[in-house]
Order: sequence, then C-alpha cells, then structure tokens
Amino acid sequence: MVSDTLVEEVRARADLVEICGEHMPLKRVGKSYRGPCPLHGGEGLNFSIDAERGIYKCFVCGEGGDVFSFVMRRLGLEFPEAVRYVAGRVGIEIPDERDRGPDPFARLREVNAFAEEWFLERRRAAEGRTAREYLAGRGMDEEAADRFAIGFAPAAWRELRDAALARGFDEDALLEVGLLATSERAAEPYDRFRNRLVFSIRDLRERPVGFGGRRLGEDEGDAPKYINSPDSPIFEKGRFLYLLNAARHNMRRNEAALVVEGFMDAVTLHRHGFANAVAPLGTALAAPQAELLRRYAPRAYLVYDSDAPGRRASFRAADTLLGAGVHPLIVTLPGGEDPDSLVRTAGPAAFRALLDDALDALELKLRILGKRGYFESAEGRRRALDHLLSTLRAVQDPALRDIYIGRVSETTGVRRETIVHEVARGKPRTVQAGRRAPSKGASADRHADGRTAAERSLLLLLVRDALLTEGLSERAWIGRALDDGVRTEHFQEPAYRALFDALAEGYRTGGRFDAGALLESIPSSLRSLVEGLLGDTTELTHPEEIYGASVERLIYRPAEERLREIRREMKMADEAQKRELLREQLEIRAGLPQSEKRRLALVLPWLDRSEPTDLDEGRRNG
Ligand code: UTP
Ligand code: MN
Repeated sequence: MVSDTLVEEVRARADLVEICGEHMPLKRVGKSYRGPCPLHGGEGLNFSIDAERGIYKCFVCGEGGDVFSFVMRRLGLEFPEAVRYVAGRVGIEIPDERDRGPDPFARLREVNAFAEEWFLERRRAAEGRTAREYLAGRGMDEEAADRFAIGFAPAAWRELRDAALARGFDEDALLEVGLLATSERAAEPYDRFRNRLVFSIRDLRERPVGFGGRRLGEDEGDAPKYINSPDSPIFEKGRFLYLLNAARHNMRRNEAALVVEGFMDAVTLHRHGFANAVAPLGTALAAPQAELLRRYAPRAYLVYDSDAPGRRASFRAADTLLGAGVHPLIVTLPGGEDPDSLVRTAGPAAFRALLDDALDALELKLRILGKRGYFESAEGRRRALDHLLSTLRAVQDPALRDIYIGRVSETTGVRRETIVHEVARGKPRTVQAGRRAPSKGASADRHADGRTAAERSLLLLLVRDALLTEGLSERAWIGRALDDGVRTEHFQEPAYRALFDALAEGYRTGGRFDAGALLESIPSSLRSLVEGLLGDTTELTHPEEIYGASVERLIYRPAEERLREIRREMKMADEAQKRELLREQLEIRAGLPQSEKRRLALVLPWLDRSEPTDLDEGRRNG
C-alpha cells in the first residue's frame, strides 16, 4: 500500500495542466484552462482545469476529480497504478511493495474508531452534561463538537475498556494505541482518558489515530491540563498536525498555513473562518511536521503566545520551517491572549488585522534586537549577528536566503561576504540531541551508543561555550551543569572525564578554560578524542534541547533506574545492607536538583512515603 503522505506528495507535485495537455489541446481562460473533453470525446471547450487547486471538471459528461482520477479514467488504471504513473512523471519513487496487502494496523484503527464514536456518545448522553456545559462556556454547541469530533471521557476507571471488550476488541489493541494505561499501583489496565474533553486527532484519510484530552474543571490537583495518546504504530506525534485533515485544502487555496499552539485555538479558528489552522501535538514543531506543511503552503503564520517562552518557541519553529522551505511569519497577539480567546472576544476581523501585521521571522528578530540597542555599538552588532545566525543557517530557499543576508548586512553594517562566511562556517552538520537514529544493533549496544553520544553532545555544548565566552561566568553552561548535579563520574569515556574536569576546574577557580594546557596534561591516548571535540564545528541549533536531553540521559535516567533497583534490593536485604541502600538512596536524591526531585516524587511515589520511617529505623539501629 502506498502511504497517504506519499500519495499527497505525488499529488502536490503533479502538474495537472501538463498531464491533461498531453491528451487534448488546452486554452487558458482567465484563471482556468479549457479544452475538449477527452473522457467523453466532446468538441466544445467543456473540460475545465483549475490549476491552482489541481482539479478538473467536464460540464457535459460530469466527470471531475484530481490528477489521479483523470489518469485512472483516461488510461484505465487502478488507483495504485495511477499513483505510480504520476509519481514516475514527477520523479518520485514509490517503494515496491504489495499494493493491496492487508493493512497490518487495521485492528488499531478499528479500536480508535470505536473509541472516537464512544467518546462522542458519552458527550451526547446524560452523563456528558458537564462536558457540554464546558463546551458551551467556550462558545461551542453540539453541532460544532460533532463537526470536530470532540467527545467526553467519563470520570470512571474502566468504562471504555469494558465497552470495547464487550464489542469484541482485545485488550492488547487498546493498550497499543494507549487508550488503556497501566501502572504499578493498578492490578489491571485502566482508561487513560478520564473526566476529560477528548479531541480526535485524525490522519489525512479522516481516520482517528490518537486523542488529546483536556481536563474538565480546574480543581483536579496536579493532573496535567492536556494529555495525548502516546505514540503507537499508527501515531507518531512529530509527524501529525492537529486538524491538517480539515485544513490542507484551505492551506493550498490561501497559500498559507496558520500554526497555533493548542487544540482549542485550532478549532476556534476553523469555526471562525480561518480554516487553514493547524497545531502541533503538545510539542515543539518538529521537522517532519514542517515538511508536511510545505506540501500544502509556501508560508506559515506562527500564532503563539506573545510572552517570552512563546516568543522563543515561535523563533525555534520559524527556524524549523525555514529548514523545510516554508516562509515563517510571526503574529504578535496582545499580552495574555491566545488565538481562541482573541477571536472569541475581539472577533475575526481583529484577528485578521493581526495576521496582516505579521512580521517575517527575521524582520521581527531584527526589530527586537534594535529595540534592545544591539545595533548601537560594534560589540553589540557582533552579538546581534550571533543571534541571527541560526535563522540565516536554517533558511533553505536560496532566494529568501539572499534577501535575509542582505537585510542582516544592511542592519548590522557587516559586509555580505563576512556574513556568508560566518553562515557557512558552523554549518556542515547539525546535532539533534535526544533523537538517535534507529540502529538495528543489539539493544545493549544501542544503550551504550546513546550514552556516549549524550556525553559527547553535552561536552560539545560546554566546550563551545567555554571557548567563546570571556571567562567562565555563572552564565556559562558548565555552571548550570554543575548546579544540576553533573559530575565527572557521569562520564564513562576517560577522555571526556578529563575534559569535564578541566572545565569544572576552570569554572570553580573563576578562571578560564585553557584547551592547550589540557591537551598537554592528558595522556596521548586521550588526545585525539578531546581534539576532535575541540575542533568540531557542528552547529548547535537547539542548545537548550541538547542540554536537557543529555543531562536526562546521563544522570536522571540512571538515577531513576538505580532508585528502582534499590527498592527491589531492599526487599531482600538484611539490616546492615538496608542501611547501606538507604544511604545510597539519600545520596542519589541529594545530588539532584529540585525540579528532578519533584519529577521523581511523581514517578516513584513510594520514595517519599517509605523514607521517613525507614530512615528512623536506620538511625535507631545505627
Ligand atoms: P496551553 O496551556 O497554552 O493551553 O497549551 P490552551 O491551548 O490555551 O488550552 P485551553 O485553551 O486552556 O484549553 C497549549 C497546548 O500545549 C499542549 C496542548 O496541545 C495544548 O493545546 N499541552 C498543554 C499539553 O500537551 N499538556 C499540558 O499539560 C498543557
Ligand atoms: Mn487557550
């Protein structure tokens, strides 16, 4: 079976006018093309092509459709063959597999379809009153809820499970798509979505692949406001956009996409005439999502919160879009508003006006830097350039790149050639932390690889920063790493240990990091690895992510694993061993920053409960 995305790609690239033109003479009439219909063999100019939308229609025989249906009718092909034919024309290779094999994930799709319908029914039923009232409070009636497939998950632990099992679905399928969750504390799997509004996330063929659940009411303690289905064989969050199924045609028509942060934002925009809105699924915009957008629209308006984190997120998303060849514009909303609240309070016209005021992402960066006085000194201009490089490097479209470089040159007074040189300098490869290429090796090896890679990424960040900054101030990454509990022993590679020691030492003694001295002092066997790191010019586009993912991999994950192990060992330990294990447990926890302690308290709830009594006992006996 040819994948949906591939079919879409072929459709997007195909030139309907060219393909039809091989079967009939065509004449341009206004925005469309006309010719004698080859499907019924007419003579008048009754066959009309809308090139922009990629569709045709014959006014006499009534035939109409897209490039695939034309090829199917005209050449007598089946759909998969038609796709192959057009793919060949546009230079896309379709992997040669069984075209009509059964869908291996059919049972997962079926259980999702069942759940979607079940959630909708719960919303319509008496028990769905709170959900309906909540929706009404957000300006949505039943019809809208149906149109966007927004349902309700009751506040019960196993209602969906029981209903699905009664209908013959098996528990494994429910678990695999994440409708059921498991926990150490629960004997049996339970419904993941409880007392939530449930948004269906559908693929391009309108099949539900996952769900997003919004907490109802604000009084449920620390339950997250939104939860999503976990990734499954049919749902990889980084490759789907919420409402793309409904938005894609409008994106084509408008030659623009609106990218918003939330489910509600997307739905409200669609309901108020902005039907080209999509949202990433609770994460930063990922490269595959940007590629997906590019198939439908050459530009995207980023409509994120206007506070500092929202701004940062939109600049990051802008770079990702540039990398996929989409032109990003950033919309500035009044403080405290999101698209949903703004459209409902100020109205669509006000929102439209804000879209009209959107600024090209680079332009906005330039204005912000200007306002902060960056262009008033040579030193400032130099630092401004550093802020702009990520964007200049990301941009794929050659024309846009040229324009951007011109703008930056004009504003900073730095010569074009210098900027071009700077851009090229850091560009050869990009590191993406936390996203290891799937390797086929034994899992133990994968483990080790991931670990070494994490050690290296983290050091790359620390070293780069140390070489660039004037002395190791407390703003240096090494300072933060030490605060977060990163220590020499977290590195397994001896060369990396030596490097980390040197950085930490430099920081502690308030001095500088002297790479030359370090190379002198270490055994020659370690030198090449250290030199490799010092000379690595890989661009670090997302330092925050690299840092977070590496620290998680090096410290938090091993710490969590060890804490779990300690708990198991404790059950079989004698008194002396218990004391020893407790001491180790305390030590591990003491070394972690507050935020990680809080996270652990959530994932290892027994940690805090067990501790005081165990500790008392330990003290008494010791
Ligand atoms: P926001 O917190 O900005 O909420 O999260 P929102 O979209 O305005 O939600 P409403 O209007 O109060 O209902 C933006 C998006 O981030 C993801 C969700 O996709 C959400 O729509 N998110 C948020 C989560 O995944 N988990 C959370 O706990 C919060
Ligand atoms: Mn909102």
